[in-house]
Amino acid sequence: MENSGRPRRLGILISGRGSNLQSIVDAIGAGTLEASIAVVVSNRADVPGLQRARAAGIDALHFNARDFANRDAYDRALADVLQARGVTLVCLAGFMRLVGAPLLDAFPQRILNIHPSLLPSFPGLDAQRQALDYGVQVTGATVHLVTSELDGGPIVLQASVPVLPDDTVDTLSARILQQEHRIYPEAIRIILDERWTVVGRRFVREEVA
Ligand code: GRF
Repeated sequence: MENSGRPRRLGILISGRGSNLQSIVDAIGAGTLEASIAVVVSNRADVPGLQRARAAGIDALHFNARDFANRDAYDRALADVLQARGVTLVCLAGFMRLVGAPLLDAFPQRILNIHPSLLPSFPGLDAQRQALDYGVQVTGATVHLVTSELDGGPIVLQASVPVLPDDTVDTLSARILQQEHRIYPEAIRIILDERWTVVGRRFVREEVA
């Protein structure tokens, strides 16, 4: 993927707390990520993430699925607003909806997601609980490109964390979240700054001579 000269405008989709959104805002503020956030969209009203966005001076919208005839209409409206604002990379940050064809087609290889497990283990909901229940001793966080397969796209970056004997879902989630906040801005930087390709399932970073 050739990035030079491409505008670096992020569109961030959320459903709730928005701590990953905050980590991206903070990385931009600290100068470790060179980008701007063009818009934040939530599928839920009045969530903390919308307040965080507005506090940072970012345009923050609520798109209610009930206002649209069906899933495709919703995704088309999302694609329209993101394109109208010149977004070049879409970041799902706790966005609790499946992404359908209208959005995938509008942003080919340009949608990222963060998931709180070492994929392909524990896709879907409650990944931290799944890891605890299974009894794994190591889990973590994954940033991946979004495809039509739930939590199944090429892996951009992962970080591992130990599962400790006395962990609860809350303590394990907090340990994973620390890594999420580190790797999401870094994965966005890789997507924007580096040369890379997708070969089969693999995300391949090209060596710069
Ligand atoms: C994170 O654990 C993320 O990995 C998952 O949903 C959670 C969102 O948290 N997809 P936040 O809204 O970013 O605080």
